Amino acid sequence: MRWKTLDDMDFAGKAVLIRVDLNVPVENGVVSDDTRIRAVLPTIRHVISAGGKAVLLAHFGRPKGQPVPEMSLAPVRPALEAVLGEPVGFAGDCIGLPAKRAVADLQPGQVLLLENTRFHAGEETNDAAFAAALGALGEAYVNDAFSAAHRAHASTEALAHLLPACAGRLMEGELRALEGALGNPERPVVAIVGGAKVSTKLDLLSNLVTRVDDLVIGGGMANTFLAAQGRPVGRSLCEHDLGEEARAILARAEETGCAVHLPVDLVVARELAAGVPHEVVTECPDDAMILDAGPDSAAAIMAVIERARSLIWNGPLGAFEVEPFDAATNACAVLAAERTKAGHLLSIAGGGDTVAALNRAGVAGDFSYLSTAGGAFLEWMEGRTLPGVAALEAER
Ligand code: 3PG
Repeated sequence: MRWKTLDDMDFAGKAVLIRVDLNVPVENGVVSDDTRIRAVLPTIRHVISAGGKAVLLAHFGRPKGQPVPEMSLAPVRPALEAVLGEPVGFAGDCIGLPAKRAVADLQPGQVLLLENTRFHAGEETNDAAFAAALGALGEAYVNDAFSAAHRAHASTEALAHLLPACAGRLMEGELRALEGALGNPERPVVAIVGGAKVSTKLDLLSNLVTRVDDLVIGGGMANTFLAAQGRPVGRSLCEHDLGEEARAILARAEETGCAVHLPVDLVVARELAAGVPHEVVTECPDDAMILDAGPDSAAAIMAVIERARSLIWNGPLGAFEVEPFDAATNACAVLAAERTKAGHLLSIAGGGDTVAALNRAGVAGDFSYLSTAGGAFLEWMEGRTLPGVAALEAER
């Protein structure tokens, strides 16, 4: 293992700084989805039951280095107390006197949440003095925020070098799952990449064609590839100016022996709305939009999933929020879930849309692993080094 885990640490009686990701959706002052909060419970529980004092560091939104009342972590505290089933203290600043006093009052087994680290400019600049001010509050550091590990910030990077450091359970789980799917996967390995735009996923696609056996391209981004091959896409979402980049990715895939699967038939309609008239075609009419992969395409993707041993999925295959354009995504999701349950497939999915699509298909719980990360998951798929992970590796 390249990083320490909770099992390598002694927390008894110590103030333990735990970097968590509490960047959760809040509507009218109330947390509307507590998935990320639930995800860090195992680490918090481990630290307090080992006699540690859990001091939570987190960011919320992008306040750009100054206090912004709407980006306070205060509304997250009751949601944290509800899922933890324990009272959680709160300090109105993550450094300085309020934080020092609150930590000094904390008893072993108790939990304290500190205000948004991004209220200080030093957080995002990975400033040594700000990191030292955070570090002075604790005697050990746990990073359980994989989803913020792509940021080289003081609480995710510099702090790991100042205190005995380890990965929390969520970080550990994410890293193990992702390594299993792309690091040293059981082959064949297939990646399904969908979503709206190629421009946001160029690096990711370029990396994947060197790593996976099959690459399925779906969603709006498939249209860019179809157009790059001279096929009509009508009024579909399409980045016509990226034809050259798309062709370069296909050429690289040929060199590396990665089979790229683009839609062979298309579900098209004149507008995107539930239940609108639609048809299955092989050529998109001028006045229509491609809204899903057709049944032959779905069957071809399912054949790839059938023979795969590892699957990594980011982005839906069609306009999955609107029936019937969720058909290809649902069919492939259900099959991947079945193959996973039968022990034939390691399946990893990440990204907000992807998790929403799998939830809609009713199979999210059947995948081997669902990542809580958005940007970090994408950067990891691009093959980049994540600073928050690299810092833990350096302190091993
Ligand atoms: C996320 O929500 O993906 C993480 O919390 C990172 O947030 P950021 O993109 O504002 O750094």
